[in-house]
Amino acid sequence: MDLSGQIGNQKFNNIFLNAAGLRCSTTKDLNKLSKNPYVGGVITKSATIKPRQGNPKPRCYGLPDGSINSMGLPNRGLQYYLNYVLQNHQKPMILSIAGISTADDLKMLKTVQQSNYKGLTELNLSCPNIAGHTQIAYDFRGTAELLECIFKFFKKPLGLKLPPYFDLDSIHQCAKILNQYPLTHVSIINFVGNGLWVNINTESPVIKPKGGFGGLGGHMILPIALANVRAFRQDLKSTIKIIGTGGIKTGADVFAHILCGAEMVAIGTQFGIEGGHVYKRLTKELKRIMLNKGYNSLADFRGELKTL
Ligand code: DHB
Repeated sequence: MDLSGQIGNQKFNNIFLNAAGLRCSTTKDLNKLSKNPYVGGVITKSATIKPRQGNPKPRCYGLPDGSINSMGLPNRGLQYYLNYVLQNHQKPMILSIAGISTADDLKMLKTVQQSNYKGLTELNLSCPNIAGHTQIAYDFRGTAELLECIFKFFKKPLGLKLPPYFDLDSIHQCAKILNQYPLTHVSIINFVGNGLWVNINTESPVIKPKGGFGGLGGHMILPIALANVRAFRQDLKSTIKIIGTGGIKTGADVFAHILCGAEMVAIGTQFGIEGGHVYKRLTKELKRIMLNKGYNSLADFRGELKTL
């Protein structure tokens, strides 16, 4: 059964990626993903210019059908991940970067441009967990200005990680901007920012940073993810592929993401809960659904969501 995907000129033998964030911060984590035969490509933890410890703990908490977190970009710094992706790997790598400011984004992209790295880079415009900083992707004018600056010098394959949007008109506006640039892909969606969970025994939030406000992930955000994948697929030009991210717990969820138009899918919270075994299980579950429906390849149903 063909479970392959393609982003830019990068071919992936199967559609499963890890989502930038969980279990991908160290070379040990990354090597495990790289060796996992059910993982088609590896995304590195979003890098800042310098290493960061991240936010104070507790900063992550399991909810009945998902999680709330405010990690605050703990990572080893750009050079660590650039060194890693520059090594020889058996599968494609995606270098994720997330500046604390747009000046940092530009500085890091200049470093990547000047390096020997030829693979995909993903610019994260949607980390909700840095106190005092807004998510740039919610500011369309700022995003347009940033992309204009970037593509003056950045000539390597580049995608974006976007937050969820809750209004179809926002997606139309965003896609109109993105369609003007040679982007390879968008990863949608990042965490649903600034949720709050309350422990009524202690009468306090469950995580410490930002007074308890944190990003929501896991199965509870699946409908929001599917809506964003579907709406962006309808609005984006066909060369901008979609990495469907958000809410995937079962093979059926993967199937739904692909039906809505995802080229590849990435697993975040469920990978955090289950570990590397999740990719084998999801592959098995997806293949069983395809078999039952008589599909041999993802191309048989990708983007083919029907209307009632
Ligand atoms: C965090 C990091 C991310 O890259 C992201 O997209 C969202 C949250 C974090 O570390 O908090």
